[in-house]
Amino acid sequence: WIVWGAALLAGYLCGSIPFGYLFSRMAGLGDIRTIGSGNIGATNVLRTGNKGLAAATLIFDAAKGFVPVLLARQYLGMEAAMAVAVGAFLGHLFPVWLGFKGGKGVATYIGVITALYWPAGAFFCALWLIIALVTRYSSLSALIAAAATPFFVLAMTSVPLFIFLLALSAVLIQRHHQNIRKLIDGHESKIGQKAAPAK
Ligand code: G3P
Repeated sequence: WIVWGAALLAGYLCGSIPFGYLFSRMAGLGDIRTIGSGNIGATNVLRTGNKGLAAATLIFDAAKGFVPVLLARQYLGMEAAMAVAVGAFLGHLFPVWLGFKGGKGVATYIGVITALYWPAGAFFCALWLIIALVTRYSSLSALIAAAATPFFVLAMTSVPLFIFLLALSAVLIQRHHQNIRKLIDGHESKIGQKAAPAK
């Protein structure tokens, strides 16, 4: 239990670093939470018009999940790696540094699943890209990829990892409830569309 608790905490501390928030502040763009969707993720950073900053946010938000989970997997085993993954994912969603109001988890999800089972990460990214190219909706791409990836894992590998990813995907989808409403209403903004005031 001590190892599991420490793994969760270590993952949480990595995941809670709000790169999108920090990078936007450092670039002089102000508080990203007052721009566009108000989310701290790469999609919203892109709404500022700064592509490099959005790419950096995507990479660092994924890396803060990928690196600790991979290290845990290598040195402590798969179960500890899964605990680190939960910690990192929840850290991004509920960062203590931002009053527990964090992001929606897409990049960090990609990072942790890639470290646990890289084909799942590749599958998620490929599906995300295809849907994004067709629809231009970041949220819709993430929602479909998150719904499909656990079943890809079930077909390819073990039931425990399927259940684990199903739980992670369910939380990710729940975090997109505002996006789902906007998609249904036809108000969701497309990738690359410039920022409107936060709603
Ligand atoms: O990564 C989150 C993305 O799926 C949606 O972001 O800013 O459009 O709510 P956003």
